[in-house]
Amino acid sequence: MRTQVAIVGAGPAGLLLGQILHRHGIDNVVLERQTGEHVLSRIRAGVIEQIAMDLLDEAGVGARMHADGLVHDGVQICVDGLRHRISFKELTGKTVMVYGQTEITKDLMDGRAAVGAKTLYSAEDVRLHDFTTGKPRVTCRAGGKAQEIECDFIAGCDGFHGISRKSAPAGAITAHERVYPLGWLGILSDTPPVSDELIYVHHPLGFALCSMRSPTRSRYYIQCSLAEDIESWPDDRFWDELKPRLDDEARARLVTGPSIEKSIAPLRSFVAEPMRFGRLFLAGDAAHIVPPTGAKGLNLAASDVRFLAEALLDHYKKKSDAGLDCYSERALARVWKAERFSWWMTMMLHKISDNPFDQKIQLAELDYLFRSKAAATAFAENYVGLPY
Ligand code: FAD
Ligand code: PHB
Repeated sequence: MRTQVAIVGAGPAGLLLGQILHRHGIDNVVLERQTGEHVLSRIRAGVIEQIAMDLLDEAGVGARMHADGLVHDGVQICVDGLRHRISFKELTGKTVMVYGQTEITKDLMDGRAAVGAKTLYSAEDVRLHDFTTGKPRVTCRAGGKAQEIECDFIAGCDGFHGISRKSAPAGAITAHERVYPLGWLGILSDTPPVSDELIYVHHPLGFALCSMRSPTRSRYYIQCSLAEDIESWPDDRFWDELKPRLDDEARARLVTGPSIEKSIAPLRSFVAEPMRFGRLFLAGDAAHIVPPTGAKGLNLAASDVRFLAEALLDHYKKKSDAGLDCYSERALARVWKAERFSWWMTMMLHKISDNPFDQKIQLAELDYLFRSKAAATAFAENYVGLPY
């Protein structure tokens, strides 16, 4: 098989890149280790910035997002039972959209199927070859036989545990990492959300987040230890842990019900530098991870895709490699700002330390955020997405 761009991974980054390239006449093949159903079963991101909305439109799959997505003008932060609102609209003129990653992935998969672009699901033993020396190739086993794809470029969009980053030449990568001693235990339930807006909760018992997918579907998270076993969290225990962290109004409005999904996600900050190795380009979680507190992971994947798609279009249409040459630098400049914001929100809102000094600093930081217009504006600018 021969293609122009071989894309490893059918998460949001890989599918979005594939769809945009296809719309501009650039042939691509996506290789995914899992089945399509498995990819759709992972409940993850909920909040998307304008950059991701624009790219979904450019990919020709934005209709359902505009119809079903919920536009949010602001966000609420609850500190020890008292709620404060930060208005994105007033402070930045911008908004975010609540539209689940599962729906985005489904829209992209449907869009890809509709145009007949090639995706190899259940691709085993994906390997990347010759991307620093000559004509790149990707090999795997799929559909019961060995496959070989010759290409001009490889896009490594295979997430944090993928093969692409690990395929970079020894010593060529510098990894920067911070692992937090906690995780998020998340529950999805067909119950109405406690509020029209997301509520991030700082509480002596630990962090909580009240989010949603629709007016009838809620997504809640509570901070948990990394040692937790999901089996020891029946739904009732989750609701019992969540309730005391909420303010009175949210607690009164909380409708509990059976979970339709429950999972634990560890919190990690990670950046691999650079994001290019010859003709291999990393994008999304393959190159960087943020703790979910700032809702930045999928949005960063989208911004990488925008830079990479532009660069590949310039290569093919304008015979210019300037975009490819500065891809890593441009993408990383944005990545580090999102890393900082996600780290800052994580450190401010979670119960991380038993040292009363650290707890007092958190409260001082939050008080400043609520009292200072400059601080609230900086928060809002980062949350809705910094300009390019
Ligand atoms: P992935 O979604 O990880 O996709 C990678 C794909 O590659 C997968 O399908 C995987 O199966 C495949 N793959 C892996 N290895 C191989 C291989 N060897 N060969 C072939 N294929 C392979 N982000 C936000 O912006 N907003 C939010 O509100 C938000 N909330 C989150 C909440 C939680 C609980 C979590 C865990 C994450 C959240 N995120 C959020 C982050 C977001 O989900 C990720 O950043 C996003 O999924 C990254 O997309 P990706 O395509 O880069 O990687
Ligand atoms: C979600 O709805 O899943 C969600 C929302 C905001 C975050 C993280 C996750 O910061």
